[in-house]
Amino acid sequence: MAKILVTGGAGYIGSHTCVELLNAGHQVVVLDNLSNSSEESLNRVQALTGKTLDFIQGDIRRTEDLDQVFNTHQIDAVIHFAGLKAVGESQKIPLAYFDNNINGSIALIQAMQRAKVFNFIFSSSATVYGESNPSPYQEKMPLGMPNNNYGYTKLVIEQMLEKIAIADPQWSIALLRYFNPVGAHQSGRIGEDPQGIPNNLMPFVTQVAVGRRDKLSIFGCDYETQDGTCERDFIHVVDLAQAHLCALTNRLESKGCRAWNIGTGKPISVLEIKNTFEKVNQIAIPFEFAERRTGDLPSFYADSTRAQQELGWSAQYDLEDMLIDSWNWQKQNPKGYH
Ligand code: NAD
Ligand code: UFG
Repeated sequence: MAKILVTGGAGYIGSHTCVELLNAGHQVVVLDNLSNSSEESLNRVQALTGKTLDFIQGDIRRTEDLDQVFNTHQIDAVIHFAGLKAVGESQKIPLAYFDNNINGSIALIQAMQRAKVFNFIFSSSATVYGESNPSPYQEKMPLGMPNNNYGYTKLVIEQMLEKIAIADPQWSIALLRYFNPVGAHQSGRIGEDPQGIPNNLMPFVTQVAVGRRDKLSIFGCDYETQDGTCERDFIHVVDLAQAHLCALTNRLESKGCRAWNIGTGKPISVLEIKNTFEKVNQIAIPFEFAERRTGDLPSFYADSTRAQQELGWSAQYDLEDMLIDSWNWQKQNPKGYH
């Protein structure tokens, strides 16, 4: 069993990964500045698992915070979720994104080097495939230039990590390229809790369902897709969390830098999300078709063969599970953690 530093562990994907790590018998240390989360998620992670974790409220950009963690704990591997993730916001305040995501990752990697910890799992995104690769995306495809500053930070960090692993063979790095995470833990105790108006589709749908928003706007109905709305590869957050455990096992046994797509491989349209949500949860989602949203790609989804073959990972939950669990979380927590 290993001791894992989880940066951003109080957030949506991080909290679900902490549950899976603790259930698998690992020790967990979370470093999070709570800029987009609440400590309550970690209280619930501990209640759900019946296990304790160490929480340090701190910032990945602060050397003192990082050294405190590495000097106090004998860390075996780092899973790095901490960062800013709102695509639209990244266009308005690019420097905040470059600072948090790129400078933050550099400071973290430097601290790891000082502490001689060389196992690293990075939260990347399908956005690194850019705009011109055909779906299904395969890891061997040349990466493209993302059309927003958030995506650009993911590309830069991936490229830095590849070069770091080439320069020093002690490193073992996983680049996990997430597709569209949705859903929540089956208990409904932890889930996605965006601040303000949600940018992403799923929390918007559940907030309409719970009465916090009047109606869903579906951005674009004239794309060249099956039903005219955009298609994405939605993946249950618990499946995604499990992928980190598989990557951890793989990385503790090998060296170098390797990328894996973490998706189901199935394109699902925005309209299908709305319709299936209504069907499985027996609740109406008022909606309208609106203008296309700038920067949206019509359709992308994963080829996750490499993750199946090399990590022994594949998605276990289907679309209905994702939509039932998203709603279960939101209806039990109409105002999120607050
Ligand atoms: P989230 O915002 O819920 O979690 C991120 C956590 O990092 C938050 O708890 C926040 O407080 C913390 N944080 C931010 N900046 C920090 C800093 N400087 N120091 C310490 N803590 C900091 O987001 P999430 O959806 O759980 O995403 C986790 C990671 O996965 C992010 O890197 C994100 O870019 C990546 N990702 C997310 C998605 C998605 O759709 N959710 C898709 C692809 C990739
Ligand atoms: N959508 C709506 N209405 C909404 C919100 C979203 O119709 O209120 C549509 C979008 O136009 C898009 C689809 O739902 O067609 C999915 O949108 P999201 O914002 O949920 O997700 P994206 O695919 O745009 O973005 C996600 C992650 C990013 C990542 C990107 C590419 O949030 O982190 O995938 O991997 F960069």
